[in-house]
Amino acid sequence: MKERLEKILGDALTQISGGADPEQIRIQYLGKKGELTAVLRGMGQLSPEERPMIGQLANDVRVKIEEALDKANEALKAKQLEEKLKNEKLDVTMPVSPLATGHHHPLSLTQREMEEIFIGLGFSIIEGPEVEYDYYNFQALNIPENHPARDTQDTFYITDNILLRSQTSPVQVHAMETQRPPLRVVSPGRVYRSDALDATHSPLFHQFEGLVVDKGITMGDLKGVLDAFAKKMFGENTRTRFRPHHFPFTEPSAEVDVSCFACGGKGCRLCKNEGWIEILGAGMVHPFVLSNCNINPEEYSGFAFGMGIERVAMIKYGVDDIRLFYENNQRFLEQF
Ligand code: PHE
Repeated sequence: MKERLEKILGDALTQISGGADPEQIRIQYLGKKGELTAVLRGMGQLSPEERPMIGQLANDVRVKIEEALDKANEALKAKQLEEKLKNEKLDVTMPVSPLATGHHHPLSLTQREMEEIFIGLGFSIIEGPEVEYDYYNFQALNIPENHPARDTQDTFYITDNILLRSQTSPVQVHAMETQRPPLRVVSPGRVYRSDALDATHSPLFHQFEGLVVDKGITMGDLKGVLDAFAKKMFGENTRTRFRPHHFPFTEPSAEVDVSCFACGGKGCRLCKNEGWIEILGAGMVHPFVLSNCNINPEEYSGFAFGMGIERVAMIKYGVDDIRLFYENNQRFLEQF
């Protein structure tokens, strides 16, 4: 019996160290029908003297086999883990496919470029409300009720005296009401006109307003500032041209053209053979507007200008339909 137990132990350990499947070994020796179990079952036939000794020995054998099995199991698990780690290894130096990142909308790009230029000229950026009182959008700007200028800016009214601003010029009034001269501000933002949508009109578009008020400001200052802006925006060789015009809130008023940067003024498709492209309205702030804002026109003078951001973007990027800016067509937007 003793030899049989020693043989079982020897065989089991040899098989385990030989790399046999631990679960298989457990069944073969310790399972219900296992070899060691069979020996323990036969214990009843032993003499009472032999029984404790063989019982002890059988127990030792079981413990040793179990210990060996536990060790083998641990080793197996460690090996499996190592294998798993090896297979799941990430090579962080491997090249990745580039991520498609978004970018700014062409109108934002244009607006930012304009802002940068005017910041460089010493202007600050301010904003005004899109929902305005009639007073700021019209009356304070020397456009009384029934003035024909109201017809040229078809306005969305919310109530009799509250409206969606049809221009950024009301921000001039807010600026002059809240700040004392010297004033040097630009104000970009949305404006609304009840126009039908076509290639050059949109009921919502963006304007960029400028205002300077100080002692001794002249038309020469206006010309100098717009000249510097045009050169930065459209190229060093760009020239500006003032044509007489009329706005109720400036006197004198002008429409300002830039020389066509595509043909240099010779005439081409972009400038419709004119050599010049109209980009903005401007003028000297009307004395009535100054006094409406409690600024003494005898003491101070100023200039103002306003331009469409869409218009500047269309000219700059050669876009011939304003609707492209609002349709969010990926293939259009990707080009900027
Ligand atoms: N507000 C005018 C427009 O929308 C533009 C303008 C601004 C003209 C400032 C003169 C001075 O047409």
